[in-house]
Amino acid sequence: MATYMHLGEQVDPDEYVVCEYRVTTDIPMEKAAASIAAEQSTGTWTDLTTTTERIVGDYGAKVLSIEGDRTVIAYPVEDFSIDVGGVPQILSVIAGNLFGLESIGKLRLEDVTFPKCITDMFPGPRFGASGLRRILDRPEKPLVGTIVKPKIGLPPKETADYVYEAGAGGLTNSKDDETLTDQRFCPIEDRTVAVAEALDRLESEGHRMVHAVNVSTNGDRIVELAEKVQSWGAREIMVDVITCGFAAVQALAEDPSIKVPIHVHRTMHGALTRDPLHGISMLPIAKLVRMCGGDALHIGTLGVGKMSGNPAGDLANLHACLDPMGGYREIMPVCSGGVFPGMVGTMVKRSGFNVQIQAGGGVAGHPGGVRAGARAMCQAVDAAFAGIPVAEYAETHPELKTALDRWGTR
Ligand code: 3PG
Repeated sequence: MATYMHLGEQVDPDEYVVCEYRVTTDIPMEKAAASIAAEQSTGTWTDLTTTTERIVGDYGAKVLSIEGDRTVIAYPVEDFSIDVGGVPQILSVIAGNLFGLESIGKLRLEDVTFPKCITDMFPGPRFGASGLRRILDRPEKPLVGTIVKPKIGLPPKETADYVYEAGAGGLTNSKDDETLTDQRFCPIEDRTVAVAEALDRLESEGHRMVHAVNVSTNGDRIVELAEKVQSWGAREIMVDVITCGFAAVQALAEDPSIKVPIHVHRTMHGALTRDPLHGISMLPIAKLVRMCGGDALHIGTLGVGKMSGNPAGDLANLHACLDPMGGYREIMPVCSGGVFPGMVGTMVKRSGFNVQIQAGGGVAGHPGGVRAGARAMCQAVDAAFAGIPVAEYAETHPELKTALDRWGTR
């Protein structure tokens, strides 16, 4: 009888989706890995009268290696139904029932590699990092942005005033926050129109900037909402990938009527990514977002911001955005969450220059207001780009000096 154990076997990377899992279990690792392979492909908790050696041989997942608490499992491409199933079906194979198996304990999907026949089925980013840079006419320096704060409460005009001030202070990007969509205090149409006017004004003054309008909503309405938002003047849209789903990102990226970049937020990802022993690491999430066509993606702050994360993990996410994959464009990695000017140097040293750094509180909390906060962030990026220590740069840049006095350096 064919089995799921294929330790030491090399598989053709063009024929398998290969996953690395971390397993915490009281049962022997061989048994745990075989249970995962069986459950996620052709088996279940007991032998079946309905299966055959051919079915397991053709469609059974293969346990290729076990090292400590890590196992590598390969799924035949035939197990996937990309045209119809898309990412939802991929996830149900590589990250489905296995998380709930009582016999196993904790389990984390650490990484995944897709064969060309699968990546070929996905569009990848239409703009990506280079497209954003082209739109903003900013070829080399890190992009530097803000999240309009407070995250809820400002009406459309004040939101637009914030965006204008941020642009006047030099920021290249701004965006709605994840909880702002179409509340009564700030209807999305009025906000988008007002922000578009602010961006036009900035452009007429010689400064290019984009603002990502949050179109996160129900699956049956998201493309229509994005089309409307575009017709109201949006130059970028934002979608929350975990709450809306990868399919929402793909629907937006594949729809020919959507002609602006897609900024991908990852709110709620911590429920999947935070436990080092259980869930799904950010790495597969980043790869899937790139496949689905996101143009910019939050990857963490490389160990310095307010959200949990560590430099090595966040750097792996950054590489998932920028390293060659499926012939896709690079996605712009976005460092966001508790960012302030005094940490920009450390972040950029770790990330390199192909990154978008953005601060909400770190701009709107500046004692001099939004324009001064924006200037301080830009000055911090300029210092990092020039390789000048931030404290030294602050001696001749008062807004940066005020920010360092307020929040220090990290
Ligand atoms: C985000 O969207 O990343 C957060 O709203 C960041 O806000 P903060 O810069 O104030 O932490």
